[in-house]
Amino acid sequence: LSYAASLNNYEEAKIHLEEYIQNKKKDINPRYRPLYHVAPPVGWMNDPNGFTYHNGEFHIFYQYYPYDSVWGPMHWGHSSSSDLVNWKELPTALLPEEEQCFSGSAVSEGDQMILMYTGRRSTNVEPLFNESQYLAFSDDGVNFQKYEGNPVLTETPNNSPDFRDPKVWKYGNDYYVIIGSKTLDNRGRVLLYKSNDLKSWEFLTILGESEGDMGYMWECPDFFELDGKFVLLMSPQGLEPQGDRYKNIYQNGYIIGSFNYDTNEFVPEVPFQETDYGHDFYAATTTEANGKRYLVAWLSMWEVPHPEDTDGWAGQITLPRELSIVNNRILMKPVEAIDNLRDSVEVDGDVGPNEVYVFGKAVELLVDSDLEQKVDLLLEGRDGGGKVWLRWDPEVRKVVLDRGSDDIRQVEWSPIGSHTWRIFLDASSLELFCGEGEVVFSSRVFPLGGWKVTNHSPQSLRIKAFNLKRSVP
Ligand code: FRU
Repeated sequence: LSYAASLNNYEEAKIHLEEYIQNKKKDINPRYRPLYHVAPPVGWMNDPNGFTYHNGEFHIFYQYYPYDSVWGPMHWGHSSSSDLVNWKELPTALLPEEEQCFSGSAVSEGDQMILMYTGRRSTNVEPLFNESQYLAFSDDGVNFQKYEGNPVLTETPNNSPDFRDPKVWKYGNDYYVIIGSKTLDNRGRVLLYKSNDLKSWEFLTILGESEGDMGYMWECPDFFELDGKFVLLMSPQGLEPQGDRYKNIYQNGYIIGSFNYDTNEFVPEVPFQETDYGHDFYAATTTEANGKRYLVAWLSMWEVPHPEDTDGWAGQITLPRELSIVNNRILMKPVEAIDNLRDSVEVDGDVGPNEVYVFGKAVELLVDSDLEQKVDLLLEGRDGGGKVWLRWDPEVRKVVLDRGSDDIRQVEWSPIGSHTWRIFLDASSLELFCGEGEVVFSSRVFPLGGWKVTNHSPQSLRIKAFNLKRSVP
């Protein structure tokens, strides 16, 4: 199955892998490499995993295949940060053996960090795979040992083979975990279990389940309390597009409700809403630190081209966002420490119609919009490559992100406070935060050279723009 399994010594395999990564890094073509988003050093990544705050540091792991820039036997890549903005690369945390290391989460217990992940094994009976839950422990936050008693959780109430992406947390003296699964007639669902030692688990209840129109599989569930409500966040597969909604291949969104730890009942109060309205946002996951709830997601999507794969890598993680709930919606704001990346001020004032500005590859733009006037901003590579238009029409009142050729995402916006658009551009991504974060778009764009911005609106726009500093290796 994997390089690690072909060597009889797991530790030896880890050393070989790190040497391989350091060597292979030299061949990376930097043209689309993010300057302030986490991306794999080489090879492929998908979901962020094990997002946690441990001993004063944030940790992000991710689904990782180092040997090619396409999906392959899953490892866990690893980065850490003290402020969610400046990241350092750490050695690969988990290597596949007879099990691939699918998505999962982490808990911090004093000096110990514990990972819980799905071990996916091949079998020779239909459906030719088995998914069960595994543990790994670390005393230093860098080196992880798989638990010798793995797997610790093997069965769903209906024996569904789809049983993955555990999100574990502690409440009181108990651990809880939710796991993505489906009914026998292919409706996505999320299962809740409880344990007092992480090793033996008791099934509690079905926390949520599609009634038929919410997809065939719920991947990467998360569950947390936020501003007095409970949120079931997940990545459903199989939603049909409805007008402007659900235009991506798979979706990410959440249900707000209430929950009671005595009855284990989650009562939905607000129906499913998309978390982010961009093209490339999946497998979102959260963590809590110092009373704040942060979210990251895979800034990409399954079954779409990855133009960077010929450069030796593929995939990246969104900017971490701080969450709150206002008017039954999750607001997402870029983490505060992102302000520390501001370098030179490039623009500060009125930008007239057809005026053009050029920037580096990492840019923050603040556009003060007057909701009664049209906005039409073109962002593109200085040397060609990807183009994206951001628009607002006072008649339609939708924020529009247009990658050309009708590749549009749009949503109605009624600001609850600020009217400013905060736009983060990196070497292959754009994140647009509208107002207080009630509407956010995350999409990949592939400009060449730095960025060039043209005001195609009929009037001036008030713009402030900064080049940003690099914060990832
Ligand atoms: C979501 C997902 C997970 C799975 C992982 C495999 O993107 O399909 O359900 O654990 O990716 O890499």
